[in-house]
Amino acid sequence: MVNKVSRTKMSCIIVATVVLVACLAFVGCAPQERSLSETGDNASANASKQDDQGDDASQGVAFTWSAESDCAMCHDKEAASQQDSACTASQHADLACATCHADEAGLVAAHEGAQMGSDKAASALVTTSVDDAVCQSCHDQAELATKTAECTVLTDSEGTVVNPHALPENEDHAATECISCHKMHSTTAVDKTATRYCKSCHHTDVYSCYTCHA
Ligand code: HEC
Ligand code: HEC
Ligand code: HEC
Ligand code: HEC
Ligand code: HEC
Ligand code: HEC
Repeated sequence: MVNKVSRTKMSCIIVATVVLVACLAFVGCAPQERSLSETGDNASANASKQDDQGDDASQGVAFTWSAESDCAMCHDKEAASQQDSACTASQHADLACATCHADEAGLVAAHEGAQMGSDKAASALVTTSVDDAVCQSCHDQAELATKTAECTVLTDSEGTVVNPHALPENEDHAATECISCHKMHSTTAVDKTATRYCKSCHHTDVYSCYTCHA
């Protein structure tokens, strides 16, 4: 019994190894082909080409992130959002991407293995964030709270109204950031994204917790 299992396992490992080696051989060629077809229309792409570090297994079109990279080459959706008036990004159209995406070390790491012409760019921030400090360098928190003092976007099913920029203070609310409510590159309006955020905890659309259960 034990023998049989381990033999089955062993043949799986052998098959997996063969497949892996075959894949590696294939991947090894693909980027070079791509770099050939890209030389024409993506001159700037080649400027960021990593040619001084020979340790990248995939060779060819490795990419090292820097604040000066041509972001739009891979992130066309986010670049386009700066021209779309439905997106908050359009209020920030003259800002370089890296003004907000300022976690340089985090972004270099997040882009490890990214390739030119990749059709699989990010759909959300996974390992990096955009800190409140970035937003607050231009937007004053106290001023915002005054501006939205009469705002009724955050009204629960019992009619309790909360100022989005002056939430009641408690441990759970302390984790709230500007980007909990404000999306930059999405066309979903802030009244939707903000109420969705509250409901992620206030699951009955009532702004309290211990009134129904402990
Ligand atoms: C060569 C293509 C390419 C270029 C150029 C590029 N990116 Fe990316 N970027 C990617 C890919 C692919 C991912 C997704 C990585 C993943 O999900 O593993 C990504 C992810 C990201 C993320 C999400 C990070 C996270 O928290 O998960 C941000 C933000 C980002 N890029 C910003 C930028 C900015 C700003 C620039 C220009 C300064 C830029 N990128 C240039 C390909 C690129
Ligand atoms: C370099 C300065 C700067 C930075 C950084 C910045 N903003 Fe802005 N933002 C502006 C300016 C200027 C406007 C347009 C004028 C205004 O409404 O204040 C604006 C507009 C907005 C608006 C739209 C206001 C409206 O009337 O529709 C929102 C929401 C906003 N910013 C949120 C943010 C958030 C969230 C961040 C951080 C992720 C951020 N901003 C970072 C300068 C900045
Ligand atoms: C709890 C959700 C929430 C958070 C957190 C939040 N906002 Fe807002 N913000 C809103 C809503 C909702 C509005 C729209 C108010 C309205 O239209 O009545 C708004 C409006 C704004 C505006 C436009 C104000 C105006 O009327 O000119 C700016 C700028 C802004 N927010 C920036 C920020 C920044 C910067 C932060 C972080 C310091 C932040 N917000 C945090 C929900 C939020
Ligand atoms: C004003 C600040 C700001 C600027 C400028 C900005 N971003 Fe973002 N970006 C954000 C925030 C905040 C998020 C979090 C998700 C969201 O809000 O949509 C984000 C999310 C992202 C993501 C994750 C995927 C997604 O769409 O959510 C990528 C990739 C990205 N930004 C790339 C870019 C690129 C490329 C540019 C320049 C063309 C840019 N950003 C300009 C604030 C900014
Ligand atoms: C991460 C979970 C979480 C999120 C997200 C959250 N809350 Fe809460 N909220 C709580 C908890 C837990 C309490 C109860 C805290 C207590 O009584 O000590 C609470 C209490 C409250 C209270 C009652 C405060 C008081 O002192 O009576 C209000 C009002 C409220 N939340 C509004 C909101 C609004 C509006 C949002 C969305 C902008 C929101 N909350 C988002 C967890 C959350
Ligand atoms: C209007 C009444 C009401 C309010 C207010 C309310 N809940 Fe609930 N909650 C319920 C009901 C009903 C259930 C499902 C039945 C149950 O498990 O008691 C539930 C279930 C839950 C559960 C799952 C419990 C389990 O054992 O599966 C969690 C966790 C929870 N609530 C957390 C919260 C938090 C956190 C808040 C405040 C942010 C909150 N609830 C506010 C009514 C409420």
